[in-house]
Amino acid sequence: MTLSLPPESEHTATGTPPENDPGLDPVATRPADEWWRSAVIYQIYPRSFADADGDGVGDLAGITDRLEALPELGVDAIWLSPFYVSPQRDAGYDVADYRDVDPVFGTLDDFDRMAARAHELGLKVIVDLVPNHTSSDHVWFQAALAAPEGGPERGRYIFRDGKGPGGDEPPNNWESVFGGRAWTRVTRPDGTPGQWYLHLFDASQPDLDWDNPEVHEEFLDVLRFWLDRGVDGFRVDVAHGLAKVEGLPDYTKPATGGSMGGASFPLEPELEADTQHPSPPYWAQEGVHDIFREWRRVLDEYEGDRILVAEAWVEPLRKLADWVRPDEMHQAFNFSYLMTPWSAPALRTVIDESLDAFGSVGAPSTWVLSNHDVVRHASRLALTAENPQGAGLGPDSPGQPDPVLGLRRARAATLLMLSLPGSAYIYQGEELGLPEVIDIPGDARQDPTWFRTDFEKYGRDGCRVPIPWEGDAPAYGFNGTGQSWLPQPADWAPLARDAQLGADSTLELYRRTLELRRAHGLGTGSVEWLDGYGTDVVAYRNGDVTIIANVGETPVELPVGEVLVASEPTAEAALPADTTVWLRVRE
Ligand code: GLC
Repeated sequence: MTLSLPPESEHTATGTPPENDPGLDPVATRPADEWWRSAVIYQIYPRSFADADGDGVGDLAGITDRLEALPELGVDAIWLSPFYVSPQRDAGYDVADYRDVDPVFGTLDDFDRMAARAHELGLKVIVDLVPNHTSSDHVWFQAALAAPEGGPERGRYIFRDGKGPGGDEPPNNWESVFGGRAWTRVTRPDGTPGQWYLHLFDASQPDLDWDNPEVHEEFLDVLRFWLDRGVDGFRVDVAHGLAKVEGLPDYTKPATGGSMGGASFPLEPELEADTQHPSPPYWAQEGVHDIFREWRRVLDEYEGDRILVAEAWVEPLRKLADWVRPDEMHQAFNFSYLMTPWSAPALRTVIDESLDAFGSVGAPSTWVLSNHDVVRHASRLALTAENPQGAGLGPDSPGQPDPVLGLRRARAATLLMLSLPGSAYIYQGEELGLPEVIDIPGDARQDPTWFRTDFEKYGRDGCRVPIPWEGDAPAYGFNGTGQSWLPQPADWAPLARDAQLGADSTLELYRRTLELRRAHGLGTGSVEWLDGYGTDVVAYRNGDVTIIANVGETPVELPVGEVLVASEPTAEAALPADTTVWLRVRE
């Protein structure tokens, strides 16, 4: 096949608003140099990053000890999943005290030391905030249980009388994201059955009532608590779930499901709401926006660019863009991108839609391929059967991924993601090419999904296994004792960080790519589509870099130029299947 240099298409998409265009207020008035507009943010899952005290669960002191690895990797910020006081029924997303650290992770002093070290290393620090629900161990919920029905203590949560004779039926038909019904009935002090409370997640995670001003006050105070401690931002858990439709009406999912295959976790992304498919009465209600506007005003009182990042499973992207309007949050995770199959037309479409949607409100797009809730992309991209998000993988799951193909696609997908303008998220361990761990024994699994579905859905443990640092150390250097809250695979030594440093490895590929992203200013650039490479290829220019991803099965001829980085060797100017290259094309 011969190929001349493809003509540049007319279409340029950008995540950055045009400069000095007074016609686009307020979009154009937002400064384009704020750190978060182009930052690469590394997600630390504290349970599984590094364990200083050797009890098998990672901790803050462990993070501090290992932090230097992150500027060496080339990231700008860290986001930590919850480390607050919690009975850990949902791995810390069940918070019992928002202003203190769980002993399993350390102390507030450990947090301060970790944050100071991060700042010293030039890393911004984002913490997780869980406002949709508390833990059932939270003092508020304990008070609610002890209080009489209808009392103010109950009014912070969503308690209702049951339906039917004796109130034996739940107040409505809502289902928990983790499986089973979303209501649990409490027992009165005299032993008789009482009211029901709502929990969109586990029964140990009662939903707060955001119609209650006390709930607002509490979270404004929690925001200030962490802002005063110097955090640079918050990742906001379930940021589309806080407001529920008045009267809590029944809801039945449309049989067609969403574009994401009827996933039940984290939140089934919905078809655009219309009369036939109304939004579920618990997701993406208008009321959430007032809450985040209130929060934004608090953040704006503080020095520095402090940010709010929405975890909102909302489709389509132009609706998600409402979360990042100029007076709301700064970023929203782009789950539409994460869920896009390995297909060039689908990737081109989602990139365009992302830049258009976020750009229209003056926000940067974000890009993400993995996190602690989804099958790691080194496995997901080679699945041959549908695997709804959060369902996870076990030895008998259909469509088992080929690990070699999975890693190859993951490397190509990562090079594509890191070339895009906006802010990118990396989940700990993906820089090592870690696959999903599939063969975790049933009795070692911990995700509530596994239990609430009667062991039908494996859940998210497979992406949460403690990461390997040293190939020949106990627990691969996760700690010094060899303990690990989830078992680590026996064959991870070659994936350990020390084995990959300086070698021809996925870790070095990430380092080189991140260095080039920074050097060429790709995070603040734009996408200028290039035609002429065929349907199975995603090709564009961002500044002086040409990015070509061959998502198809046949090699593609490359233009003459200098290869800056490639996800696989590119022999004889041909780009093999499942490979991405960054080039400086000779003009
Ligand atoms: C979010 C978190 C997930 C958690 C859920 C309930 O989706 O990412 O891990 O289980 O919220 O808090």
